[in-house]
Amino acid sequence: MRALVTGAAGFIGSHVAEALGAAGYEVTGLDLRRTPYGPAGDVRDAEAVDRALAGADLVVHQAAKVGLGVDVADLPDYVSVNAHGTAVLLAAMARRDVRRLVLASSMVVYGEGAYDCREHGRVRPGPRTARDLADGVFEPRCPACGAELAGATIGEDAPPDPRNAYATTKLAQEHLAANWARETGGTVVALRYHNVYGPRMPKDTPYSGVAAIFRSALEAGRAPRVFEDGRQRRDFVHVHDVAAANVAAARAQGTPGALRAYNVASGEPHTIGEMASALAAERGGPEPVITGEYRLGDVRHIVASPARATGELGFHATVAFADGMKSFAAAPLG
Ligand code: UD1
Repeated sequence: MRALVTGAAGFIGSHVAEALGAAGYEVTGLDLRRTPYGPAGDVRDAEAVDRALAGADLVVHQAAKVGLGVDVADLPDYVSVNAHGTAVLLAAMARRDVRRLVLASSMVVYGEGAYDCREHGRVRPGPRTARDLADGVFEPRCPACGAELAGATIGEDAPPDPRNAYATTKLAQEHLAANWARETGGTVVALRYHNVYGPRMPKDTPYSGVAAIFRSALEAGRAPRVFEDGRQRRDFVHVHDVAAANVAAARAQGTPGALRAYNVASGEPHTIGEMASALAAERGGPEPVITGEYRLGDVRHIVASPARATGELGFHATVAFADGMKSFAAAPLG
């Protein structure tokens, strides 16, 4: 079986390529940077994609512009790399009659997590107002009555509600891939990654995930700066588990003509404050600072169950939070 991994030089893509290789796949790679799996090439370049697809049985699409972005000046790049790049790839797959796609999607397609209101049951609050955030009111409130809410677990069938450019283009990838599947009879397994961390995570940039930002700060002797009140919940999933999920997805039969989405999560949610403390403790300080700062594009809590991935793909996260953070505190960053 030959698998083309796009983004094979990246943080997640490099682990995915290695895991597929170890599982017996013949791996080719396409990335802006040269890799052991193939020459440099842009996923938006139809000829480069076409060459990379020669002989492929499936594509594992990890190439993307990631992160929350800095401001609206980033919009064209997100659309170009993520949406247009995926469209070029899908068109080339149709020409080459490659029928199987594993797509790196993201939990950010959900927007704000699910909540329960005592009066109104399950609700999905809209974006928090700048005013509430500035006043330190971080918890979303019931859209019907304004009451406080209890956090709940979100499932794959929840309606998507992307809140930033990255999320919007990740959802566009899912929609384009679903459309391709309908037209070609192909199968798409979309893996909605939660907060991935581990060795080679890109260092501190405005596009980095929070674990790498904290890790870089600690390495430089600075305190991790925890936004809001630090009680926002996420699910940190180790990159080795994410790579294993991709191998499971590559082996999966899929549903011809359709996209099927899966949460790829550890099932062990933690707060951002807990993550900062775990890393700081492991490195011997400095202690995290809770700053009350906020970013308009951020959601408050996002917690989902990996039960569907376990039931249908046989995926089980193996790296527990405490062990994963311990090794991440000393792991090389990209
Ligand atoms: C992250 C990724 C997103 C990916 C998703 C699932 C980034 C920027 N975001 O989304 O691409 O799809 O996981 O894998 O890579 N925070 C701080 N201090 C900081 C930076 C952030 O406290 O210096 C807080 C934020 O306010 C937020 C939380 O940490 O509450 C998580 O932030 P971040 O990792 O940037 O984004 P996610 O939305 O979780």
